[in-house]
Amino acid sequence: MDADKLINVLADPRLAVRALVKRSRASFERRLEWDALDRPHYAYCTYHAARLAKALGHDALSVVELGVAGGNGLVLLEQHAGTVADLVGIRIETVGFDAGSGMPEPADHRDLAYVWRPGSFAMDEAALRHRLRSARLVIGDVATTVPAFVEEGGYPPVGFVAFDLDYWSSTVAAMRLLDAPPELRLPRVYCYFDDVIGDDWEIHSPYAGELLAIEDFNAGHDHIKVSPIHGLRHKRRIPAAWNDQVYVAHDFAHPRYDTHVHPGGWDLGLRG
Ligand SMILES: C[S@@+](CC[C@H](N)C(=O)[O-])C[C@H]1O[C@@H](n2cnc3c(N)ncnc32)[C@H](O)[C@@H]1O
Repeated sequence: MDADKLINVLADPRLAVRALVKRSRASFERRLEWDALDRPHYAYCTYHAARLAKALGHDALSVVELGVAGGNGLVLLEQHAGTVADLVGIRIETVGFDAGSGMPEPADHRDLAYVWRPGSFAMDEAALRHRLRSARLVIGDVATTVPAFVEEGGYPPVGFVAFDLDYWSSTVAAMRLLDAPPELRLPRVYCYFDDVIGDDWEIHSPYAGELLAIEDFNAGHDHIKVSPIHGLRHKRRIPAAWNDQVYVAHDFAHPRYDTHVHPGGWDLGLRG
């Protein structure tokens, strides 16, 4: 073990357990419990969205990545979706959206031009299509492609959206997915926002970037609110940054919002 790894493990011995689980033949659910798989946030959101869809009686759901670039995230999302589909017993369609040509020009200071550069993250579309098995790839500006996708409809309800478009302006446009007609989304849609923490050069605030897009969305919607999962880190074996990047879009007016789905019997031992 190199010195850096040893320091990490001494600081938090749970990391050694995670490494063991990762190398073992543990089930998907055990790996998820220990974050012992790649992009555990994609796995967590796909798994819980699928369980919600199943509990609501759906036979399929959609999971979406907004901002695909080279495609490592979309390829992994497709893999997690395949595993979760078998585990939960539901069909999962994976969709990715990207300009293809890399980051567009920033709209204004809200797009954090001091962090992102136009033209970066350009996609090799042919190479990516070759790596994908069934995922749908939608190429173009999300300001056009997302409304067209919603308008066309016909896809299973969206249960998870990974937002990785970096800019405030692109994220605002893409959030149109979250106020599509209710049959096109679950009453609670898991959302992952990649750019709300970042490195020390990125200084995120609710006044720019993805955090501002969330604020704008919530201000513009009376009955749909995008909110972090309060206390998620306390439900995790190993608390991690992604716990603060997972949100849920709650649509309180969705026809299925109040459908009871909790599997617990709530036997609190009060009956003596
Ligand atoms: C950081 S990269 C995505 C990385 C990818 N999710 C991954 O994990 O490998 C951001 C992407 O957002 C895309 N993007 C930003 N604004 C866009 C817009 N308005 N329309 C379409 N794509 C956009 C860029 O083309 C870029 O590929």
